[in-house]
Parts: sequence; C-alpha cells; structure tokens
Amino acid sequence: MAIRKIVEKGDEVLRKKSFEVTDFGAKTHELLDDMYDTLVKADGAGLAAVQVGVLRRIFLVIDGESVRDGVIEFINPEIISESGEQKGVEGCLSVPGYQGDVTRPYKVTVKYQDRNGEWYKLKAEGFMARAICHEYDHLNGVLYVDKAENLQSSNR
Ligand code: CO
Repeated sequence: MAIRKIVEKGDEVLRKKSFEVTDFGAKTHELLDDMYDTLVKADGAGLAAVQVGVLRRIFLVIDGESVRDGVIEFINPEIISESGEQKGVEGCLSVPGYQGDVTRPYKVTVKYQDRNGEWYKLKAEGFMARAICHEYDHLNGVLYVDKAENLQSSNR
C-alpha cells in the first residue's frame, strides 16, 4: 500500500492512450491498491491509472457519495451503450483548482473486468455514468477540460 503521485495537466503522459491489461496478478493488484490509497488521500470521485503515470486501461470510481463508501475497479472497460444527456459540474485531480460544466450521457452500459479478470456488465446513470465517462476519457488521453464550458477556478 502506497500513495502515488498524481500527475497534472501539462504532463504529456495524460495525452497518451492507455494499453490493455493482460496481467491480473500481483503487480496489477498492487497498482489497484495504491490507486485506492491515492484516491482516499485526495478524496476524489475517480482515478485512472494514467493519472499515477501508468498507461494501463484501469480506473476506479466511487460507489456512493464518497470514497469511504467504496469503489468499483474497472479494468479494460468498454462503454457498449449510452443514452440521454446530462449537464453538470466536473473537476479532475489532474487539473487542481478548476471546475467546468460538461455534457455527458445520462445512462451508460459498461463492460469491464475485475482484478481477477472476470467480466461484468454494469448499467449506470446520473453521477456514476458521468464519472465512468470522465475516467474512460482518461484512458484515451482526453481531459474534461477539452469538453468543458464555463471552466473556472473552484477556489473562490
Ligand atoms: Co480526471
């Protein structure tokens, strides 16, 4: 267990596409545990592996109101359907001090693997759907600021 350094906007790694995970062993489990510790410390809503500098298709999203409610680990996720629309405020641990409005699907269905390589399918809506879309973008080198309207300081 360890807290890893969160890379911030301006670091080229955030613009790279992450690679498929093929290792479901100890090294990936350690990364997932470290990502959890890092997310708890930062008190964020989600974290992608690229945000700790590891180009693997992995992200965590909180399963509730805060990270203390638990997280879902998404490995090799694929959004297989989306519907509806929602507009709301987002921030990102890699873009500290800012927030902006982003339009996202209201519902998504995502298939993904867990840390042991088992496949699951999850239907999410509202906040969870937004968080999944935000983190999924990270795996393809996209930041929410690329899509945001009314980007502004969140420290006011
Ligand atoms: Co982010």
